[in-house]
Amino acid sequence: MRNLITTIALAAAAAPALAQAPDPTLARNLAATCANCHGTNGVTRGSDVEPLAGKPKDELARKVMEFKQGKKPGTIMPQLAKGYTDEQIELMAGWFAAQPAK
Ligand code: HEC
Repeated sequence: MRNLITTIALAAAAAPALAQAPDPTLARNLAATCANCHGTNGVTRGSDVEPLAGKPKDELARKVMEFKQGKKPGTIMPQLAKGYTDEQIELMAGWFAAQPAK
């Protein structure tokens, strides 16, 4: 019983550490699903859709969360945002924020 409790405690302690050290490839792969509309690496070329590259991480994450929660109106983004976990949204926001805006 004591071993089980220790195991659970260790697993709980490890979870936040994993969340803080995301695989950079994972963030890039998730962000690639946005490229069709927001441009390669979040840089749009002659499109009406907002570029994402170089925008502050907090702003990007907040907007996508607001789409997901139905607080921000939109055509496609409210549907799309629901397909991602909060952690995935954070990862993508961080990745786009780190891209050069060109
Ligand atoms: C099918 C096209 C399409 C895809 C794919 C797409 N978006 Fe969007 N995005 C839009 C459109 C169109 C808007 C404007 C709001 C709306 O109509 O939904 C938008 C708006 C946004 C905004 C708000 C921009 C602003 O400053 O107001 C953010 C942030 C955003 N998208 C992030 C993402 C992320 C992250 C992904 C990938 C998970 C993504 N989008 C994938 C079409 C798309």
